[in-house]
Formats: sequence, structure tokens, C-alpha cells
Amino acid sequence: AEDQRITRIKNLVGGFPDFPKPGILFRDIFPVLRNPGAFKELINVVVEHVQKTAPDVEIIVGLDSRGFIFGPMVAHALGIGFVPVRKSGKLPGETISVAYSLEYGKDRFEMQKDSLKADQKVIIIDDLIATGGTMAAACELVGLLKANIVQCFVVIELEDLNGKSKLSAPFKSLIKYS
Ligand code: PRP
Ligand code: ADE
Repeated sequence: AEDQRITRIKNLVGGFPDFPKPGILFRDIFPVLRNPGAFKELINVVVEHVQKTAPDVEIIVGLDSRGFIFGPMVAHALGIGFVPVRKSGKLPGETISVAYSLEYGKDRFEMQKDSLKADQKVIIIDDLIATGGTMAAACELVGLLKANIVQCFVVIELEDLNGKSKLSAPFKSLIKYS
């Protein structure tokens, strides 16, 4: 039944060649959200997955900006907190920061220093992994705060780019493209 739900969701994901740059095949998650049944199903599948694989998770970390769609919904459903990783210059107070590259550019990620506690059990959630540069940068920040990454989770994995090889924490994706 889970496989059927995932196939239904996958069929709604859009594919745009040469966006935002020549040679990139952009996978667009937003048509899934436009469809209320598929949107609900997607969130349900993610929440069930987390309950099954990491029932002791204490807090969700979501990545700017498409990780802000899924992370807070999952945290809310589980009754736990949410913490953002943001692109640079957006978070007030004391922050830590790391530069990274992704499939079509470069950026900088930040977290608030007091946003996680040492040893806190964290799941990092994003919409998609391509080269893994983004997720690896988030892991680095969470590691600097000494929290415990129990899982890195994405809805979509672009398998040919082997992003998961950049990660040392357990990794899981729902929908794979190769
Ligand atoms: C996209 C996507 C992931 C990242 C994956 O974010 O949402 O976060 O790229 O790429 P990588 O695995 O090669 O690092 P983007 O930086 O485009 O920002 P957005 O979420 O604000 O659209
Ligand atoms: N982020 C990095 N690579 C991407 C792709 N091919 N499609 C959508 N988001 C991305």
C-alpha cells in the first residue's frame, strides 16, 4: 500500500529540463502540494516512516526553503519541535555558519547557536537530495551543535548524483530518480 501511495505521488512530480541552468533536470514537488489528496498522502507517508524508523526523535531540522514545507508539518504531527537551517543573514542572535555547493550553485547555511541541545536526537528533512552538498552542510552545522543526527530524510533522491555518499548519518528517501 505504501508503494502505491509513493507511485501516485511520484507521477505528480514535474520535470523541467535546463532549469535553472542548462543541463539540470529540475524535479518540481509543488504539483504534489497542489493536489490535496496527494499532499495529505505524502505527509502521512513521511510521518509513518519517521514513527517506524526513528520513534525516539526529539526535534526536526528543516532546510531553507523547501524543507520548511515538510519539516514543520512532520514535527507538528509528531508533537515535537522544529528548528530551521537558513540561508545566510536571516537568523538573529548568535549563529554558526558554513559554505556549501549544490547542483546549480553555491550558498551559505546558518543555525542559531542555542537552537539544539547536545545529544538531542534530530532528523534533518529536505524536499530533495541531488549532489548532497546541501544536506552535508546541514549535517555539519547540526554536528557543530553536538546534536545526534538519527536520520537524514528527503522526499526525492536523484540517485545518479550519489549525494548520500557525502553523508555519514543514516539516510532515507521516498522517491528515487535515476
Ligand atoms: C534545492 C533543494 C535542496 C538542494 C539539493 O534547494 O531544495 O535543498 O537544492 O541540492 P544538492 O543535493 O545538490 O545540494 P535550493 O538551494 O535550490 O533552494 P530552495 O529550497 O530555496 O529552492
Ligand atoms: N536541487 C538541486 N538539484 C535539483 C533538481 N535537479 N531539481 C530540483 N531541485 C534541485
